[in-house]
Amino acid sequence: MNLNGATALVTGTSRGLGRSLALELVRRGATVYATARQPDDVDVPGSTVLRLDITDKRSVAEAAAVATDVDLLVNNAALTAIANLVDGDLDVIRKLMDSHFFGTLAMVRAFAPVLARNGGGAILNVLSSTAWTSVHGNSALAAAKSAEWGLTNGVRVELAPQGTHVAAFLPTLVGSDTLTDALRSAGLVLPDDVMTDPAELAALALDGLEADELEIVDPLGAEAKASLSGPPRALDLASLARS
Ligand SMILES: NC(=O)c1ccc[n+]([C@@H]2O[C@H](COP(=O)([O-])OP(=O)(O)OC[C@H]3O[C@@H](n4cnc5c(N)ncnc54)[C@H](OP(=O)(O)O)[C@@H]3O)[C@@H](O)[C@H]2O)c1
Repeated sequence: MNLNGATALVTGTSRGLGRSLALELVRRGATVYATARQPDDVDVPGSTVLRLDITDKRSVAEAAAVATDVDLLVNNAALTAIANLVDGDLDVIRKLMDSHFFGTLAMVRAFAPVLARNGGGAILNVLSSTAWTSVHGNSALAAAKSAEWGLTNGVRVELAPQGTHVAAFLPTLVGSDTLTDALRSAGLVLPDDVMTDPAELAALALDGLEADELEIVDPLGAEAKASLSGPPRALDLASLARS
């Protein structure tokens, strides 16, 4: 896909990876709808800002009615919350699924006809390599990402006939404030060099998209994917903290 001249809608651009993806798309010559629950929080020069909550049906429908020229949908927005599956707060676990799985699905369902009308285009879903490894301390978020991976694979098959390329980006440790805060609340401080700058990851994701890759990974993501052929394993955050 050539991003120069594309029209992209990015979810969750108020901060973190979503903001970096929107900035990088503008830099590569795309027309960008930078969306957020609170439009005033968006600082992406050169973009059109739209209000969008991916877990609100009406908000999703309104965005699809306005952004009718989109040929790239970037599903980045998602809740980061800490919960294990066995003894975590069930309401938090449901909210994670509501955001990562059902929110992303709502966006795909609303924008599939828009993409079809605009020649097929592409969808980029931001997942996580924990979709393939899980992580003790936050297995609920990992499970939500696994569900979103299954969603991505299914949607790819279903939208192939209309010519929509469906890609997944699976980073591991995005150096956003959200990650740092989440780790701190779990009593972990990771060395800076195991976290990757969101701007660097945005460039990696968009390079992969421009190369028509289906799954775009960072080095830990590549290890996680390779490990799928062996026994299931978990990402050991504590060992990263020690290394
Ligand atoms: N951080 C990591 O280490 C890491 C690792 C792998 C994958 N990821 C994935 O990468 C993506 C971005 O992560 P990040 O660390 O950049 O997150 P972040 O800094 O917490 O940013 C999340 C963005 O999503 C928005 N958002 C949350 N719920 C939303 C909703 N219902 N509707 C619309 N927008 C919503 C937030 O908006 P508000 O300002 O309104 O809250 C914010 O703009 C997520 O899908 C995350 O799961 C992150």
